[in-house]
Amino acid sequence: MAQRVVVGKVGDIPDGGSRVVTVGKKDVAVFRTGGAFHAIDDLCPHMGASLSGGHVEDGCVTCPWHYWRFRLSDGAWADSPRVKTGWYPVHVVGDEVQVELPGEPGA
Ligand code: FES
Repeated sequence: MAQRVVVGKVGDIPDGGSRVVTVGKKDVAVFRTGGAFHAIDDLCPHMGASLSGGHVEDGCVTCPWHYWRFRLSDGAWADSPRVKTGWYPVHVVGDEVQVELPGEPGA
């Protein structure tokens, strides 16, 4: 069953910025770009780098280690979309930013 986790207020993440939230054992990187919010695992599927500090451009974040680019719209590697990192829907409710994650809290 999906759960929604409040990750902050809309004003907590400036446009072009990101933050990492830990939910259970999972680190999720939440990005704001062009006024929209996106959430993906803060884990590059190549060798495990944190993606939250990567450069964001044209709807993709670039991994800081070896420069693979991941689409914020679905977590897919832009060069080979069969490779993905986790992607999660984001909801803005009032001024809260909520990330929708599968499973129970702590999973
Ligand atoms: S660890 Fe991300 S591209 Fe290598």
